[in-house]
Amino acid sequence: MAWTKERLEEVAQTRLGGSKLIVVANREPYIHRYRDGEVEWIRPAGGLTTALDPVMRACGGVWVAHGSGDADAEVCDKNGRVRVPPDDPSYVLRRVWLSKDDEEGYYYGFSNSTLWPLCHQVYCRPMFDPSNWDAYREVNETFARAVLQEAEGGPALVFVQDYHFALLPKLLKAARPDLVVAQFWHIPWPNPETFLVCPWAKDLLDGMLGNDLLGFHTQYHCNNFLDTVDRALECRIDREKFAVTRGGHDTAVRPFPISVDTDLPKEYLGDDWEQRAKALRKKHRLAARPLLVGVDRVDYTKGIPERLRALDRLLTKHPELKEKFHFLQVGAPSRTHLPAYRDLADEVQELAEKINWEHGDDHWQPIVFLNEHCGQEDVMLLYRMAAGCVVSSLHDGMNLVAKEFVAARDDERGVLILSQFTGAAKELTDAVLVNPFDVDELATGLHLALTMPVEEQERRMRRMRIKVQDNNIYRWAGMLLSEVGKLVPEPVAPPTPEPIVPVNDPIEGRIARENFITAMRLAGC
Ligand code: G6P
Repeated sequence: MAWTKERLEEVAQTRLGGSKLIVVANREPYIHRYRDGEVEWIRPAGGLTTALDPVMRACGGVWVAHGSGDADAEVCDKNGRVRVPPDDPSYVLRRVWLSKDDEEGYYYGFSNSTLWPLCHQVYCRPMFDPSNWDAYREVNETFARAVLQEAEGGPALVFVQDYHFALLPKLLKAARPDLVVAQFWHIPWPNPETFLVCPWAKDLLDGMLGNDLLGFHTQYHCNNFLDTVDRALECRIDREKFAVTRGGHDTAVRPFPISVDTDLPKEYLGDDWEQRAKALRKKHRLAARPLLVGVDRVDYTKGIPERLRALDRLLTKHPELKEKFHFLQVGAPSRTHLPAYRDLADEVQELAEKINWEHGDDHWQPIVFLNEHCGQEDVMLLYRMAAGCVVSSLHDGMNLVAKEFVAARDDERGVLILSQFTGAAKELTDAVLVNPFDVDELATGLHLALTMPVEEQERRMRRMRIKVQDNNIYRWAGMLLSEVGKLVPEPVAPPTPEPIVPVNDPIEGRIARENFITAMRLAGC
């Protein structure tokens, strides 16, 4: 039976019983901001919010997130709550307010300058700054307080997202042992040697073992996590059941490959997409030439310079392709406060200009680089118009652009060029799989996208569409909820904070003491 919004609604009702669903993610699904003196709302770029919003629309509940828009407070009640989606409300967004210092240390610092490069193996050195670590701990506590407030007075399933909140599960369990806590780690988990260089690795792992269920995209990431825990902490690991027991508490570790809502492209494309496509071609002087597209946040894990260099190679090796196609890259500005991200945006801009200078002329420019936020309507339009979509991440937990592209192709055409270092490559084996570090291989992939016979495109696309349709976002959420239901069949005990007994190991003892103190503080003792 296919997974639909309706089926997920039913599963949520049975599995959640009377429990409230509380999702915690750093990024909010809707941002309110001022434009020309008026308040408007946008959907942020990034796979996490795109994937989870349909789940929340189906299940209802509360999404707790950092309120990052300059008009966010304007539309909220005194507790930071607002109902969303703004045009058709079906769940609550609870915004948490952070100071600039919090944001600097926790978000830009520990989350995106330590954990992000640590977990993505793309040769970007992680920063280990104790003051960022302090901010990360404090913000995890701030979020714990907000979640506990939302969970007051009844049973709840707290579904924590991503690397911003490694400490949150343990904090929540310490304050409310009856809460069911699950976490999904949206980025890769590296091997133990890589992860354990982090000076606070044990604290992070200990925090994550507060979960009842911990999900990764692939089995490989689950294995890496278990190996890391095995090396670092005192605990029992059951490799058959894929579970870790620490301090009497079990954490199940499972793969759940995330996906997309396959109905959305149709909704976003509407009936007038062909007219909009014509206007877009005119605006960017694309004529009727075949189009290759890339859609990413400007992030050094996405391999954007690599794909531009491959385009350069392609045009050098195949001068007959000049004036025969365009490559349009949407690069949503991301984390631009960090020098690594600003430098990357400059690098991409310069590379695009250099390649256009070398291979283009007044009438034809091979590369169009749009360094701007692009709404879902336009992104879907690009997928639908394209001859091919290029996903050349150097390392990526899943990559939902690949799945969105496939979902948008109801004509069963178009070629997906996909990095073998994405989680998506494990499922979408009918894509043209490439090593993005290999400029010749990537150039050959681009060439294939421009020359593949229609029958072969259709054969590959049909198979990929079946996979994405069968394994859609509703299935992902349904499987997670079913697993949570299995692990925690009955709600347990009334909400009393439980002390964690300090152990002798100096580091583990410190973790335990700190957890205990925090639990007491959060519980208002
Ligand atoms: C990745 C992360 C998400 C994040 C998204 C966008 O997909 O796994 O947690 O939300 O990037 O990044 P940002 O920092 O803008 O939220």
